[in-house]
Parts: sequence; structure tokens; C-alpha cells
Amino acid sequence: MKIVTTLSEMRIERSLLPEPVGFVPTMGYLHAGHISLVKAARIDCASVVASIFVNPTQFGPNEDLARYPRDLPRDLALLEAARVDMLWSPTVEVMYPSGFQTWVEVEGLTRSLEGELRPGHFRGVTTVVAKLFNAVSPDKAYFGQKDAQQAAVVRRMVRDLDFPIEVVVCPIMREADGLAMSSRNVYLNPAERQAATVLFRALSAAKAAYESGERNAEKLRTLVREIVTAESLAKLQYISCADYDTLEELETVRAKALLSMAVLIGKTRLIDNFVVGL
Ligand code: PAJ
Repeated sequence: MKIVTTLSEMRIERSLLPEPVGFVPTMGYLHAGHISLVKAARIDCASVVASIFVNPTQFGPNEDLARYPRDLPRDLALLEAARVDMLWSPTVEVMYPSGFQTWVEVEGLTRSLEGELRPGHFRGVTTVVAKLFNAVSPDKAYFGQKDAQQAAVVRRMVRDLDFPIEVVVCPIMREADGLAMSSRNVYLNPAERQAATVLFRALSAAKAAYESGERNAEKLRTLVREIVTAESLAKLQYISCADYDTLEELETVRAKALLSMAVLIGKTRLIDNFVVGL
């Protein structure tokens, strides 16, 4: 695996890659969720590029940028084993040269849910993803359904800014007890790790209710709220039952809908979602 850290090197190495090129952007501290994206890219594409960049502009002032987990040697071994051809691993100075003042912002889709609780977060995500796309020029880019709003926002940006890139969204990888894999799960102590299963339990109950015929969105949200409230270490930040494409809150579930939530377990913020009405 070629490790590339400067833009000039990137341009040379990129021109040598057999096409189509698949791209998996990450912030590192890789787990099986990230690797599932690499595997999907490996199946579809002649070359696979991954990136590791802990993007400072998508973290709020009171968020976990300084303590975001990092383990580059382990990440390199995992990417090698998954047969990644090239790793794009730029420094903050390469991505944000001094005097940086250009931003990419998707408007409507970023107002609710994560965007409402994390002001500026999606502006940081879309700006860095646009820059990563410009550096790598992939044919296909792979994102996880774990970050459902991020995937929707990136799809919108690609359409609006005419990136010639196909966005592929891959399923959520989970631990045996249902907890969605996340780099942030390492923050959880044993009691919190146990409590963290409440997201999967609550979403599963709502999905079961949907499958038994419940179409009232507020009833589905209430079911989730009740289950999360019963878990003493958990604090619900939001539960949403929204249209899958527009992310607008629903009264009645008629078509594909996204049940999504954010929960604080102690100080750790976890998100998860299920899609219903496929
Ligand atoms: P990061 O949190 O490292 O996630 C990188 C990619 O892995 C994202 O597309 C995310 O949705 C996906 N992913 C994370 N957990 C997953 C899981 N359990 N199952 C499947 N896919 C999963 O998301 C980011 O980084 C950043 O915002 C980034 C897009 C790299 C921009 O900085």
C-alpha cells in the first residue's frame, strides 16, 4: 500500500492507478464498519484508495477532537490486509493552508438532527469531503449508513456541485449485541457499554411495531423515548422518524423512512438508525 501525504505526490500516484477508482474516506481508528466499505470498494473497483484525516473543522469547540482515538500502525495493518492500494493521509496544514477561507455548505438537509445539535459540523464534513474528492478524483465513494444524514448530505453535495462520482451507501456493521460499531465506542466503560445497547433495543422495538402495522410516526418515536428513558445511564438527545430523502419529520409513515437517534451514554454521544418501509 502506497502512503501519500502531499498533494503533488497524490497527483502523480493517482494518475498511475487503474480505473475505476473506489474511495473510502475515514478519520481512522478503523473497525469492521470501515473495512466493510473497503471490501465493497474492492469488489467494484480496480483500485481502492482510503483516507485517514481527523478533520478539525467538523468538531465543535466542546467536542472530542483532542482526544479522538488514533492508532495509525494498527490502521495501516488493517488497510493492508483489506488490500487497499493507496492511503491518503494528509496533515492539517496540507488540508487547511494558512489563510483558508473557502467552505462548502449544504443548506436545508443539514438544519435538523445532527446539524441542529452540532452547529457547523456538516459544513466541516462537506468542505473536507469536497477537498478529499478533489485530491483523489474517485469514480465511486463509499459511505456508511451509520451516519445516515452525512450520507444524504454528501449525496446532495455531489449532485449540486456536479462531482462525477457515484456515492455508494453501505449497511451498518454491528457488534454481536447490536451496538453499531463506532470509533467512539472505546470511550465507554463496562457499565456504559452495556447501557449502549439501548439504541439498538429501542430501534428494534420501533421497527417491530412498524412491521406489526404501526404507521403513526409519533407512536414510533414515543416507543423509542420510553425504552431510552428506562435506561438510567442514557440521555436521549433526539429521536426522529423522517422521510428518507428529505429528512423531514413525518406524521404518518407511508414510504421509505429513517428512524434515527442520538443518545448520550455518560459523556459519550452515540448515534444509530434503522430504515423502515423499504
Ligand atoms: P468516520 O467516522 O471515520 O467514518 C468513516 C466512514 O465509515 C463513514 O462513511 C461512516 O458512515 C462509516 N462507518 C462508521 N461506522 C460504521 C459502521 N458501524 N458500519 C458501516 N459504516 C460505518 O464519517 C467520517 O469518518 C467523517 O465524517 C468523514 C466522512 C471521513 C469526513 O471527515
